Amino acid sequence: MTDRYAVIGNPISHSKSPLIHAQFARQTGQDLSYEAISAPLNGFRDTVLALRDEGCRGMNVTVPFKFEAFQLATQLTVRAQAAQAVNTLKFDGTEIIGDNTDGAGLVADIEHNLGFIFQGKRVLLMGAGGAAYGVALPLLNAGAIITVANRTEDKAYQLAALFSAHGPIQGSSYIALAGSQFDCVINATSSSLADSLPPLPRGESAFSLSSPNLPFSIEENPKYGGIFAPNALAYDMMYGKETPFLIFAKEQAAARLADGLGMLVEQAAESFFLWRNIRPDTAPVIAKLRLI
Ligand code: ATR
Repeated sequence: MTDRYAVIGNPISHSKSPLIHAQFARQTGQDLSYEAISAPLNGFRDTVLALRDEGCRGMNVTVPFKFEAFQLATQLTVRAQAAQAVNTLKFDGTEIIGDNTDGAGLVADIEHNLGFIFQGKRVLLMGAGGAAYGVALPLLNAGAIITVANRTEDKAYQLAALFSAHGPIQGSSYIALAGSQFDCVINATSSSLADSLPPLPRGESAFSLSSPNLPFSIEENPKYGGIFAPNALAYDMMYGKETPFLIFAKEQAAARLADGLGMLVEQAAESFFLWRNIRPDTAPVIAKLRLI
């Protein structure tokens, strides 16, 4: 019998998850269906329980229900507890298992797909909302040395305090970042949705760096690259367009730029693994989505 899965959110019509999981199922020969379900804003719990009672085996959960899913779960994985948010539910008898695969998806994309290894690297995590909470523990577990910066400074300190038992992490304002450099800068704010940019300190622009009048190169004078260390990776969790942050990073001479499409596919693969105990091959799925 075909096993039923779904992604639930509001709005949900834009979701690429059905496309991704259909490809995973085809690739691995798993007999499953996967649909997008829009729940009323005040009806998350009832919608989930009704689907479960109809035989649904598991769900992905997206905006704005990740915290409600966290509350609904009867069992939580360590990473879901740390994130205080759930993006994956698995129904097992009367148990509702809640997991969070966002951070694992981010780390898998950056380490396996982009070849950037976090161990011992200076990482600037921008934002202290749900997206940042979701990735902090997996980043620390991968060996990153994290500075978390947030517009509302106190939230950066709170996030850092919560995770400090797991590894090196400190809070910061944006202004205090001036003079510091990072090997990887991750945009976990929702600024890209509003077409805006977190207030990052600027170094000399790449344009002026390429000026023939400059007596040095970026490599010799890295502070002219602003917050980006030589060979730095700039990563925006958003995908589908060139965001103001990625434009800023290019202008500030970041060596590598990446959007969050790989993270989207990797977090889906991690959910698929939780449900089916099989790891799909993500590379062809990422490549296909790039063409759409
Ligand atoms: P999400 O679940 O996407 O993380 P959220 O919990 O509402 O959404 O958090 C949004 C994050 O983006 C917050 O860290 C927010 O900063 P504040 O706490 O100061 O509000 C951050 N953010 C949103 N727009 C921003 C902008 N233009 N510049 C900097 N940070 C921004």
